[in-house]
Amino acid sequence: MCGIIGYVGKSSAAPILVDGLRRLEYRGYDSSGLAVMNGSSSLATRKKSGRLVNLKTLLTESPVAGNCGISHTRWATHGEPSDANAHPHLDQSAKLALVHNGVIENYQTLKNLLEKEGHEFVSQTDSEVLAHLIGRAYDNSEGTDLKMRLVSAVRDALKQVSGTYGIAVMHADVPGFIVGARLGSPLVVGLGKGENFLASDVSAIVSHTTNAIYLQDRDLVYLTADEFTVENVDGAESAYEVSQVDFTPEQAEKGKYPHFMLKEIFEQPTSIQNAFRGRLVDDQASALLGGLGLTPRQLRDVERIVLCGCGTASHAAMVGEYMIEHLARIPTEVEIASEFRYRNSPLDKNTLVFVISQSGETIDTLAAMREGQRKGHRVLGIVNSVGSTIARESDGGSYLHSGPEIGVAATKSFTSQVTVLALLALLLGRMRHLSVDYGQRLLREIRELPAKVEKILEQTDAIREIALKYIDAPGMLFLGRQFNYPTALEGALKMKEISYIFASGHAAAELKHGVIALVSPEVPSVFIMPRDSVYEKNVSTLEEVKARKGPVIAITTEGNTDLERIADDVIYIPEVTECLNPILSVIPLQLLSYHFSVARGCDVDKPRNLAKSVTVE
Ligand code: AGP
Ligand code: GLU
Repeated sequence: MCGIIGYVGKSSAAPILVDGLRRLEYRGYDSSGLAVMNGSSSLATRKKSGRLVNLKTLLTESPVAGNCGISHTRWATHGEPSDANAHPHLDQSAKLALVHNGVIENYQTLKNLLEKEGHEFVSQTDSEVLAHLIGRAYDNSEGTDLKMRLVSAVRDALKQVSGTYGIAVMHADVPGFIVGARLGSPLVVGLGKGENFLASDVSAIVSHTTNAIYLQDRDLVYLTADEFTVENVDGAESAYEVSQVDFTPEQAEKGKYPHFMLKEIFEQPTSIQNAFRGRLVDDQASALLGGLGLTPRQLRDVERIVLCGCGTASHAAMVGEYMIEHLARIPTEVEIASEFRYRNSPLDKNTLVFVISQSGETIDTLAAMREGQRKGHRVLGIVNSVGSTIARESDGGSYLHSGPEIGVAATKSFTSQVTVLALLALLLGRMRHLSVDYGQRLLREIRELPAKVEKILEQTDAIREIALKYIDAPGMLFLGRQFNYPTALEGALKMKEISYIFASGHAAAELKHGVIALVSPEVPSVFIMPRDSVYEKNVSTLEEVKARKGPVIAITTEGNTDLERIADDVIYIPEVTECLNPILSVIPLQLLSYHFSVARGCDVDKPRNLAKSVTVE
């Protein structure tokens, strides 16, 4: 994953780079570093393992000066987090610095070749090999135009690598000049007044400029303070467009909240509203998703739907599967994106593929999209990040409009993804057999969702008390049926990824097929059991857990107080039609995992080993 930011302009680079890394730290945070050119023909490099604060301390002790620099916050793929493995990496001459997001898959072959030529490496990373490869090409090049020599050296080196990259490169011979390139890892150019930026995503630069160029795969860019050029890595012209960043700097900050995750949990009344705003069509008792780019006739011809995603996005897809089959009766299946790209699924030509991704950069989901397109399918994206690779390369789709989601644990993106999928199911259903009456009821219920989420959020303190009650639990089970089976999976993922305890989600009836062996007085079971068509079945399963002295936390419909006699703790959520229930029932799970994690002293926004956007395989 990792975060990259480069700056060239009038100001001192280091403070801008460090602040940019702070805003990008959610992308990877096991080490960080920067390199700055101070106008003379030398580079000053500082890098440190651990969190960004370690780099800041180093810079206080040993400051750097200069108005051109590149920086990196790392999520290690090759080589443990350490000072030596932190980026930037230098070439053999120590005059070229590179930061890299991605994986150079043939790095070992290249490293062996370079070592035979006398190159010495100081890290175990794949990225350092690329620095040496570019430096070698530069040193072997000729000509007086040093800028173009560096650009050509980057081109030559990239032709030799296989894998993925988002890079920024500087050379001490060429002060005030940065070269960037991308293949498979995101890179955006920020255009300022007398200054220019390069970054992994716009949250790093939005406080400086809202004019952004989202580079495409195989784009190469070179920047000075006043100019920029975008070309293809092969040297051809590359079309680009300048976009306006669609959020404010404040939206990318925590504000009054202690953590981004809590802020984003509490943003959900607004983010859910943004997901359906302008998309409800009362006089047709249906929904409007103009971005799909499909005519009614084309939508009517759809005979099968495949929903692809990773992690939380795959859980949202599972809710979507149940919704679409329930409302539109179209056979729908969920494919984990990393599996879909290799599975060679037998899809017929009337299959519509959706890829779901908050970041729009998840490499497995990107690959699934490209695999679907390679087979000739229209692939639509349900994405949050405007200008992201999936948003740009898909054949259409719908934005979540959730605003930036910085917390590594996905929260508002899940409820917005499910909301958009509900709109899709309504649209497809009303084109087939769904009645006006049912459509109107769904529209009414969708509009009521934000207020109902507000009501649940008011219980945050009570839910925190429940979390504290089970703070020593070594593990937790999450159980749900039908529309809430995916909710159980999502609740388990939230709990495990931010508090590091073993947590698993199951279709509740599966309990008796082995899972019940995990039930014990120390392991609470969280039942997502609203008063719905499978409520009585859930009660039976709950009784089975209680018979084995397992504590139970039940999430159920307000007013349904009979669970208080059998469950240890009950959390009430407002009544809502069954197919929309996951949008409400997930909120207590988000709060439960948040409070549990905070109470255990975990880093909620930057959990160990994780990063927000998985742009490496
Ligand atoms: C969820 O909390 C995790 N952060 C992770 O599973 C995430 O959902 C997954 O990596 C997919 O990310 P995307 O939605 O940006 O593609
Ligand atoms: N593969 C590089 C490394 O391990 C970059 C990882 C990243 O994208 O952060 O350092």
